[in-house]
Amino acid sequence: MKRKKIVAGNWKMNKKLLEAMRLSTEVIRAAGKLANGSVEVVLAPPAVYLHTTISMGKRVPQIKVAAQNCHHEASGAYTGEIAAPMLQSMEIDYVIIGHSERRKYFHEDHALLQQKVNTALAAGLSIIFCCGEPLDVREKEEQEQYVLQQLQESLFHLSADQWSKVVIAYEPVWAIGTGKTASPAQAQAMHAFIRQAVAKQYESKLADQLSILYGGSVKPSNATEIFANTDVDGGLIGGAALDTDSFMAIVKAIL
Ligand code: 13P
Repeated sequence: MKRKKIVAGNWKMNKKLLEAMRLSTEVIRAAGKLANGSVEVVLAPPAVYLHTTISMGKRVPQIKVAAQNCHHEASGAYTGEIAAPMLQSMEIDYVIIGHSERRKYFHEDHALLQQKVNTALAAGLSIIFCCGEPLDVREKEEQEQYVLQQLQESLFHLSADQWSKVVIAYEPVWAIGTGKTASPAQAQAMHAFIRQAVAKQYESKLADQLSILYGGSVKPSNATEIFANTDVDGGLIGGAALDTDSFMAIVKAIL
């Protein structure tokens, strides 16, 4: 089986309603013109726009919708939070779990992320699990050990069957929103390492089918060389996903 190619736009906490609707409309229209099955285009708007986005994208099979976060419990008295079963009931496809901004600003640790992974998968969602090292770890050349621990502590308890619903996004923290991208060689090395680690823990067939996305300052100008690597199956795009033309140029770079 060929691995799924995925380009996802993580809008983070950006766009007002009309801007969000405009961006969704434009991306959905453009994605609808791509050959079906060639690439999955994922939109991850702020949660308040998920319903609008899913309604607009419903008829375009190339489009999938992701939430940027979910709570670790399936329901309950957690004012202001959003539960995975709610997302599933809205026909949301993915939830992003473990983004470095959530790890940093909301103190989400390995154990909490493991709970989120379990709750999301139990609800029937697919997950985009983010991993990646900060700059000081990269400078010490300890990035492999660091990322391996993130996987071990939050994902390696899953059964082999559950991995059909898992996508990994490698996002080196030092490359997020900084304009600094990992070199194609650095991205390929880490993606290959992640795939090997999954193969070792499970089996190589499972690892071969796992889509691993790169994220961190991907732009139209560098997307082609990053996506050209054997183990890079797509991207998780932040800033450049906020504009239709730049996002679609990145999507097209993987075709
Ligand atoms: P940038 O593309 O803005 O660096 O953000 C990457 C990211 O964090 C996507 O989740």
